[in-house]
Amino acid sequence: MRLRPPPGLGVTGRINVIGDIALVKLSPGADGKRAGEMILRENPWIDSVFEVRTISGAERRPVLRLLAGSGKTLTFHTELGFGFFVDVKKFMWSAGNLREKKRLLETVRPDETVADLFAGIGYWTVPVGSRVKRIYSSDINPEAVEFLCYNLIYNRIKNSVVFSGDCRTFVNYLPKVDRIIMGYLFETEKFLDHALKICGPDTVVHLHRVIRKKNIDEFVSLLEKKFRVVDIVKVKSYSPGRVHFVFDLVPRHRA
Ligand SMILES: C[S@@+](CC[C@H](N)C(=O)[O-])C[C@H]1O[C@@H](n2cnc3c(N)ncnc32)[C@H](O)[C@@H]1O
Repeated sequence: MRLRPPPGLGVTGRINVIGDIALVKLSPGADGKRAGEMILRENPWIDSVFEVRTISGAERRPVLRLLAGSGKTLTFHTELGFGFFVDVKKFMWSAGNLREKKRLLETVRPDETVADLFAGIGYWTVPVGSRVKRIYSSDINPEAVEFLCYNLIYNRIKNSVVFSGDCRTFVNYLPKVDRIIMGYLFETEKFLDHALKICGPDTVVHLHRVIRKKNIDEFVSLLEKKFRVVDIVKVKSYSPGRVHFVFDLVPRHRA
């Protein structure tokens, strides 16, 4: 869920609510404590408000500062009828990806096999896994994999195979799949040659990438060396001038 920020207190963008925890970004010089207290007052069901200072490293780990509330970071979040245990200081969760999740759920077929190479705590694996024959999921962050397993069990997804480690290793153990989700936002294209190892002629790859709009043509040319770009969908605005897109690709050897 995303809430409008209280006006005039330096909260930039929407308030990202995960379970009963609110995450905000602040402009320089903002009175974070006042903003946090105001958010709690206006939304009494929220337990804690944190400022997201940065998101660091390949594991995309949030660096948080408590603004108001108890300071607990473990919460339970529901989305599209699925439940997720999330520790907001360990993992990121974007409420802004919901439209893309719905699109993906409308696209998958029950007889598909899917690989979710950057699975995190199961943002895509759980809903997609509920609709397909088998889902193979990897993440390099062992803590994310631990939560991925909790979330698979909670949601009774029984057709999943989970790998704790680098997806570039995982693909060496996988058969060809019908669909690949690459939910990593930066330099995702560097993993494409590895994804190609599990592509059959009809495999669809959903490659996520944050990119400046003006750089799209150049990026598409790069992708088109080995894939055909069949669709480009805007997931959300990411930061001023930068957009989170998903590129739907099919391998060139299909043609
Ligand atoms: C931006 S998060 C996205 C999580 C989720 N796919 C989503 O869309 O919300 C990226 C995830 O990729 C994982 N990751 C980064 N490099 C990886 C690699 N080489 N192999 C597997 N997972 C990796 C991180 O640990 C993190 O959980």
